[in-house]
Amino acid sequence: MATARRRDRRATADSDAGRRSGKPAQTYPTRAMAFSICRLPFIFFFSFSLVVVPLALYFTLYHPRSSSSVLSVYERGLVKPNVAFHEILDEHSRVSENRTRRHFESPVLAYVTPWNSRGYEMAKLFSSKLTHVSPVWYDLKSKGKDLVLEGSHNADAGWVSDLHKNGHSLVLPRVVLEAFPAEFFTKKKQWRKAIDIIVKECEEMGYDGIVLESWSRWAAYGVLNDSDLRLMALKFIKHLGEALHSVTSTTNASHHLELIYVIPAPHSQNLGEYDFGPQDLQELRNAVDGFSLMTYDFSSPQNPGPNAPLKWIQSSLQLLLGDAKDGAHMIFLGINFYGNDFILSEGLGGGAITGGDYISLLEKHKPLIRWEEKSEEHFFIYTSNNHRHAVFYPSLMSISSRLNEARAWGAALSIWEIGQGLDYFFDLL
Ligand SMILES: *[C@@H]1O[C@H](CO)[C@@H](O)[C@H](O)[C@H]1NC(C)=O
Ligand SMILES: *[C@@H]1O[C@H](CO)[C@@H](O)[C@H](O)[C@H]1NC(C)=O
Ligand SMILES: *[C@@H]1O[C@H](CO)[C@@H](O)[C@H](O)[C@H]1NC(C)=O
Repeated sequence: MATARRRDRRATADSDAGRRSGKPAQTYPTRAMAFSICRLPFIFFFSFSLVVVPLALYFTLYHPRSSSSVLSVYERGLVKPNVAFHEILDEHSRVSENRTRRHFESPVLAYVTPWNSRGYEMAKLFSSKLTHVSPVWYDLKSKGKDLVLEGSHNADAGWVSDLHKNGHSLVLPRVVLEAFPAEFFTKKKQWRKAIDIIVKECEEMGYDGIVLESWSRWAAYGVLNDSDLRLMALKFIKHLGEALHSVTSTTNASHHLELIYVIPAPHSQNLGEYDFGPQDLQELRNAVDGFSLMTYDFSSPQNPGPNAPLKWIQSSLQLLLGDAKDGAHMIFLGINFYGNDFILSEGLGGGAITGGDYISLLEKHKPLIRWEEKSEEHFFIYTSNNHRHAVFYPSLMSISSRLNEARAWGAALSIWEIGQGLDYFFDLL
């Protein structure tokens, strides 16, 4: 449910130019200076050259902007709490030349959406760092008494084959199960049909499995507060997982199709009947290959604040895993590559922003960016039309601290979604 709210965001596509290394303009002043100095009397030239030559050397050899190979954000010293807006403007489109070097060793699942199409390009560019790529393409719906898989028009076979050719990322499209539970859970035939449709689509399109999202629908339809229906629901996921596992991957004969299941993060300290809890996890862990945990959207326009306070992430993992810490490797800990621009005046809302929106706000308002210790997120305040806004958008530091958290638990990572981020975020992975 939470993810769906971000659907209508469109990327303001950043230009490609930013990814080219170096900004030659930075070295021209020194060269121009050296040129005019040649016209001065020899003695002047000689004494000036003592200054100019080392300066020119410094700029051409050591100044990172004019260096031909761009270092990672760690080596450039950019991962820190104190950042200025101009530093982000200068650096966000520069990524390390070495795009195969991984900094995060566990699996990384990257969502890609048709409405932020930049993500398609980023997935190809950084496929060495992404073990799983999930294009958000399909809905399995009830149509009368029948089931239909919608979204085939989104599927881009050429792109899937490009990702496979790179040889690094598994492609698992997301399927949202919209089917009406009253029909779905009372007829075994519908189950078999749903499983057949999904397996067939994977085989025909050469996918490596799917990411299934159904929990929030089931909560809304009253499936989860009915113990019989809830059992049936879990059983369906198990059957689907077993069916996918029995099929050999078309791209790797020693591998089977995978099932990753999307789960919400609990919003309070105690698990409610709609939450996905440790028993559910134990029930499913042998039937699925991982859980994509939605640890984002903690705040909302009605309750502005950080997107995913670190303490909340910690308590979500604690609640979900309980004493079974060995299950952590199955959790793809969710991090957001989008942010929020909240209007603080009462009742006015605001909402999600992409990296492109964020950069425009920095250019326009030149804000003082602050680090909030408690949540471990950056934010800034600006005023427009007499309304105060608070902008929370991920930073190198906030993402880095969440990667450290995932490392500490031995968890994997999931990113919603890579079309909305800034280019240099990929250096962290
Ligand atoms: C990139 O980094 C990896 C791992 O550190 C290294 O093995 C590889 O040689 C590097 N590639 C380039 C082009 O520097
Ligand atoms: C579950 O919750 C729904 C409302 O969300 C309600 O209509 C339904 O009666 C509840 N079912 C049970 C078994 O409590
Ligand atoms: C094929 O799958 C196996 C089992 O998951 C894995 O160990 C191997 O690295 C894969 N091979 C390639 C080329 O991806």
